[in-house]
Amino acid sequence: VEGVLTASEREAIAALWSEKLSQDARGLPQSERHRNLEPPSAEFICALAAGTGARRLLEVGGSSGLSTIALAAAARLTGGRLVSIEIEPTRQALARQRLEDLGLSDRVDFVLADAAQALAQYEALEFVLIDCEKDDYERFLALLRLAPGAVVVADNILSHGLGKYVRAVRSYPGVESITLAIGKGLEVSRFVNGSAGRSQGNPS
Ligand SMILES: C[S@@+](CC[C@H](N)C(=O)[O-])C[C@H]1O[C@@H](n2cnc3c(N)ncnc32)[C@H](O)[C@@H]1O
Repeated sequence: VEGVLTASEREAIAALWSEKLSQDARGLPQSERHRNLEPPSAEFICALAAGTGARRLLEVGGSSGLSTIALAAAARLTGGRLVSIEIEPTRQALARQRLEDLGLSDRVDFVLADAAQALAQYEALEFVLIDCEKDDYERFLALLRLAPGAVVVADNILSHGLGKYVRAVRSYPGVESITLAIGKGLEVSRFVNGSAGRSQGNPS
């Protein structure tokens, strides 16, 4: 059974992952590494986004496109679209090419920007992946404009000990949230009432 991802999408994810492992093994500086999501995390977010039927998807930190493949495949199933925000042009160009090769680019709006500036433009989001610099998670969460029932997933919770983010997301009204030991640790949060934005009366 293929599931939401096709065999060629799985192969592309595996190829990006081997490239990432080789960058890590060579000890490249962070600016030259792609720091992709772990493949099991990609499978999980793909199934979760597809299973919730999310049509308005967004990721913060697309890098070279591993998570972009997973979320674009989910968007294909739901009839939705993904906004992929990335600040670094070379990595985004790689992602753009990869998604085009897979026939998934019609599902993705690639946005080359600092998420701090771009996020406020997108409203009624139904599924968001936060996978950028760890110090930015809470402030970007606060900028999200979410539809009721939206799901926000944040990576690196266990690898980077992001307890502060976990406490912050769980303090929003109407949030159901759990840390899953998948890959580097995913915080999966459902915003029952919608928006995490300040205007909706969140704690900050
Ligand atoms: C951990 S990697 C993302 C990996 C990606 N999700 C994947 O699975 O391939 C983090 C990415 O976030 C990007 N980034 C960092 N700060 C950002 C910001 N303020 N706005 C947009 N992208 C940002 C970095 O350039 C980097 O490519």
